[in-house]
Amino acid sequence: MDWIASKKCSAAAAAEMIQDGDILGVSGFTLAGYPKAVPLAIAERAQRLHEAGEKFQVTLFAGASTGDSCDGALARAKAMKLRMPYQSNPSLRKGINDGSVDYIDAHLGKMGYLVRTGAVPAPTVAIIEVSAIMPDGRVCLSTSGGNSVTYLEMAQKIVLELNTRLGDSCMGMHDCALPELPPHAKPLAIYSAGDRVGEDTVRIDTNKVIAIVENDGYDEVTPFVEPDEVSRNIGERILDFIRFEESHGRLPKGMAFQSGVGKIANAVLCAMANDDRLGQIDLFTEVIQEAVLPLLKKGKLGIASGTALTLSQAAQKEFVENAKDWKRHFVLRQQEVSNSPDLIRRIGVISMNTALEADIFGNVNSSLVCGSAMMNGIGGSADFARNCALGFFLTPSVAKGGAISSIVPYVSHVDHTEHDTQIFVTEQGLADLRGLPTEERARLIIRNCAHPDFRDELTDFLEYGLKHAKGLHQPLPLDRAFEMHSRFLKTGKMHE
Ligand code: COA
Repeated sequence: MDWIASKKCSAAAAAEMIQDGDILGVSGFTLAGYPKAVPLAIAERAQRLHEAGEKFQVTLFAGASTGDSCDGALARAKAMKLRMPYQSNPSLRKGINDGSVDYIDAHLGKMGYLVRTGAVPAPTVAIIEVSAIMPDGRVCLSTSGGNSVTYLEMAQKIVLELNTRLGDSCMGMHDCALPELPPHAKPLAIYSAGDRVGEDTVRIDTNKVIAIVENDGYDEVTPFVEPDEVSRNIGERILDFIRFEESHGRLPKGMAFQSGVGKIANAVLCAMANDDRLGQIDLFTEVIQEAVLPLLKKGKLGIASGTALTLSQAAQKEFVENAKDWKRHFVLRQQEVSNSPDLIRRIGVISMNTALEADIFGNVNSSLVCGSAMMNGIGGSADFARNCALGFFLTPSVAKGGAISSIVPYVSHVDHTEHDTQIFVTEQGLADLRGLPTEERARLIIRNCAHPDFRDELTDFLEYGLKHAKGLHQPLPLDRAFEMHSRFLKTGKMHE
């Protein structure tokens, strides 16, 4: 029997090989390409062991977020002790916020580096979804790159999940290179979104493979919804601004775009697809979201380079059917490369990420509601925001039906400091903060981005700060910094 046939087993049998305390390094990035059968079986095993009074919990490292059959199932089974570096699952979020799961929210571009350098422990078991296993010991990854090459290399044992639904649709799409480690690391020779420097498959140590399990599942991505009016409005403002900058010679042609996660990011890509004045574009991004398909179909997509192809089930089917023609437009990289500060700077990236809230000084909170409740995490937004050529932070001006202002006196948690942010866009307007001193920034954000219901209170806060703050470089009056948040926690709305 060859090594592949000899390792094939059921998900339940593979789950029996996982021990309490194991560190699992799984494939998967923003709901694309995660293992779908073995984590579910591990969750079931954990439940059985807990019922029998036995201890069983694992640590889970991934690329970013995984689907409900992985993150959700393990969280509900109380089988997850620690999670790193990003998640977006409701059950796991609940566990993080009630204190039953420890969560390390880390820059996605740095996770692989932390493992490779030993700063965080290497996985004891890598569980990686693949689309093909070759007899000579090479595997082709599935719909995401993530940290899979690192976990396959660093883990003591490997479990492969072969997704039989994908056929050869992913073959040739991956570029499996990793950056050299410092000191004196040579740069990767990637100068534009489509450049490739690695192999399209990963060579693994077949002696480490303890199980091969088949699945035929879809990535559990929610169906694509057409952008709402607020998101469309934000998308159009960005395109107008880009055209304005180009017409004034401040933005060379040929920059690549990065668009973050969520509905507004999708809306910007849709606006690009519908804009007849916009020529062909390249993406150098982290997540390639579904809205890239209209660009592709209209002949406007050059190359989409990212680490995950995050498509709804209908679009996953369509992709497999059309992969032969479409996949030359896609490069899936390891996340240390898709999010590399060096490459983002050199390629020239226009970056667009969503904020939960921003303050009048330009700081951004992307992750923690009222400074304490985790939403998803910082993700790769900081990898791009700090290193991009032109950077936008987007948010509707209000949340929860108008009860919450997304523009606040001071953010309740800082993911992106005012040193790293450039342009803010809400459906109310756009504020370009580049080159502006603090007070002018604050007045511009309030005037152009805040909802009219909150402009007076924000202005009043600024005037109070200009009279009472200790210094005037950033007139932040500490006694009133969180008045709006505190009011929201007491009354359910931020209004006076
Ligand atoms: N306070 C409290 N809740 C807020 C809020 C605020 N200031 N702003 C938004 N919300 C809530 C919304 O009401 C919504 O809650 P609901 O699902 O209960 O209705 C939820 O946050 C998500 O907001 P939504 O408007 O649907 O936005 P989205 O899907 O575009 O996601 C982020 C926005 C910020 C959560 C998301 O972009 C994110 O996780 N970003 C961080 C990671 C990142 O940027 N990755 C990309 C890097 S490449």
